Amino acid sequence: MKERVLTGDRVTGKLHLGHYAGSLQNRVQLQDQYESFVFLADVQALTTHFDRPEMVRSHARDIVLDYLAAGIDPDKTTIYVQSLIPEIAELTLYFSMFVTVNMLRHNPTVKAESRNSSLDELYYGFLGYPVSQAADIAFCKATLVPVGEDQLPHLELARKIVRRFNELYRPVLVEPKALVSETPRLVGTDGSSKMSKSLGNTITLDASTKEIAYKIQKAKTDPARVRKHDPGHPEICPIYAYHRAFLPASSPEIREGCERGAMGCTACKERITAALELLIAPMRERRAYYAERPRLVDGIVMDGTQRTRALARDTMQEVRDAMSLNAFG
Ligand code: TRP
Repeated sequence: MKERVLTGDRVTGKLHLGHYAGSLQNRVQLQDQYESFVFLADVQALTTHFDRPEMVRSHARDIVLDYLAAGIDPDKTTIYVQSLIPEIAELTLYFSMFVTVNMLRHNPTVKAESRNSSLDELYYGFLGYPVSQAADIAFCKATLVPVGEDQLPHLELARKIVRRFNELYRPVLVEPKALVSETPRLVGTDGSSKMSKSLGNTITLDASTKEIAYKIQKAKTDPARVRKHDPGHPEICPIYAYHRAFLPASSPEIREGCERGAMGCTACKERITAALELLIAPMRERRAYYAERPRLVDGIVMDGTQRTRALARDTMQEVRDAMSLNAFG
């Protein structure tokens, strides 16, 4: 049996190079080996954006275009929308009966995120989103979930919930395994530790040639390098991080040139600009192709959603039977 791989993205903004390096690139590779599902976590986006639903709506289309642009192939990967699979909400509710508030309150990701998004009071849906994430994974019986480090506590909880369900009722659900990404998180163009839309330090996957050049030209470098021959510290330079992520073959040479003060920042930036243009140009083209064909995109998403829904119905039949929610039919 082929492993089933599942990943999703909160619908909170266009995807960028950080997503590409950290996950999209990997998904494009995994879709050749595994049965792959990718979904738009629009319901989960509402945990922080419930007062801006129209933003979630507009970003949903952006993200699908980003997927297709990045090389997620609808013939290999099923793309679907979380809110159109009501069975996920149903399973979330059943799970919530046996998940304690303590298990959620101490979840490090929930803690960190509630701080970042300045939720001064914790919302019920936000506190509970790891439960819905467990349902996201369990309803489709995914066996592999590629995640970054920050998502590991959620995956641990999902495993626990599935185990508990199977013990309490009947073993109908599958314990998922985490596939932890080896790639370090991509730094922002401003040098902060994370490329993130809210920090305004991203390069999006539809950036124009000019925009790429501009963002790289403006990007932070090692402040010690005032003159071309000043020796540099590549490990603190975002441009070097991009070399490592997107031009790994030549990055040792870049490192050496920087440390010796032999290669100037301008030349170094020119090389990464050219490489990013090569990476992004075909994405831009694919994106434009799909953007001009909204009906085709609708079809891809609706097909994927329908297929997923059929699977969800089957799982929920088993779940309801296992939980004896079948006194009448
Ligand atoms: N919480 C994930 C994120 O912020 C998105 C997500 C929701 C997810 N449900 C999932 C990822 C299920 C993998 C599997 O990135």
